[in-house]
Amino acid sequence: MNQTILIDTAKKLVAPGKGILAADESSKTIQKRFDKIGLTSTPETNLAYRSMLFTTSGIEQYISGVILYEETIRQSIEGKSVPQYLESKGILPGIKVDKGAWRLPNFEREKVTEGLDELRDRLTEYKNLGAKFAKWRAVIAIGEGIPTEAAILANAHALARYAALCQEQDIVPIVEPEVLMDGGHDPARCQEVTEQTLKIVFEQLKLYKVLLEGMLLKPNMVISGKEAATQALAEEIAQATVETFKKVVPFEVPGIVFLSGGQTPDQATENLAAINKIGGPWQLSYSYGRALQEEALNTWACFTDSARRVGKEENIKTAQQAFLDRAQKVSAARSINPS
Ligand code: 13P
Repeated sequence: MNQTILIDTAKKLVAPGKGILAADESSKTIQKRFDKIGLTSTPETNLAYRSMLFTTSGIEQYISGVILYEETIRQSIEGKSVPQYLESKGILPGIKVDKGAWRLPNFEREKVTEGLDELRDRLTEYKNLGAKFAKWRAVIAIGEGIPTEAAILANAHALARYAALCQEQDIVPIVEPEVLMDGGHDPARCQEVTEQTLKIVFEQLKLYKVLLEGMLLKPNMVISGKEAATQALAEEIAQATVETFKKVVPFEVPGIVFLSGGQTPDQATENLAAINKIGGPWQLSYSYGRALQEEALNTWACFTDSARRVGKEENIKTAQQAFLDRAQKVSAARSINPS
């Protein structure tokens, strides 16, 4: 483990004004996104869409790193491998390394993320392909009687083992324990579960000797459940989020890069701005998937009645502008100083 490389990469990922684009949707998830625009996901359509994002001129002002899917890291843009292409723009390539969340036996409604088997070998390969950082996502569901301590512990243990394996190869781990927005719970319940989850995650990270200065945390914000009748305001979300993190996230962690988790692009931008207004001992940045991509995807996928125009030159340009505009807004939200 080279601590200098890890610390340097982590710092670059949360450099002032910058954050991460999560473009690592699995084959199943990208099909879900494409369903909305009537497109079939194939390696070619996936690359056409993602190339539109990555070749956006000026995007490197706001994006420090891109999380890639296994398929994408092996593809090429403009004669370069995707990681080489991103590096040529000053963007760090990353890779999703988990194998998805699967039912936890004996715990009907809960999941554990798998993918530790042979992870060391996979990381060696990804490193050779150019990956500088990695992501592993655990999901924690809120409901009656859940989450259980067992589900949190199983996921936290896997996150810590994953993070240690990454650091062994000088790859910065993004540790993502996502407390899901699904449900009708209030922010207080989300706060309680987020605090409990992060507490156990950091206990496991410590146990497995993960270098906190050489990792990033990718959490949910403390927010109302999607189906809750009343939705918390940005200021309330920010207050509860920062308060919770101050209790359980060690200040050695250089950055917190939030996921958007189903918030609209505007909500994810507004909430990040409110969080930065309060501030904390860490960089408070973004690793958004949907919130950064939604508008660009919809613009890219303009249809006429008779003929699909996906990929046509005029759509690419307007989609890139939509992507750049949103990235600029999110970057501005992340750059607000504490008031
Ligand atoms: P969302 O911002 O769409 O939640 O995606 C971020 C991510 O990478 C989830 O693992």
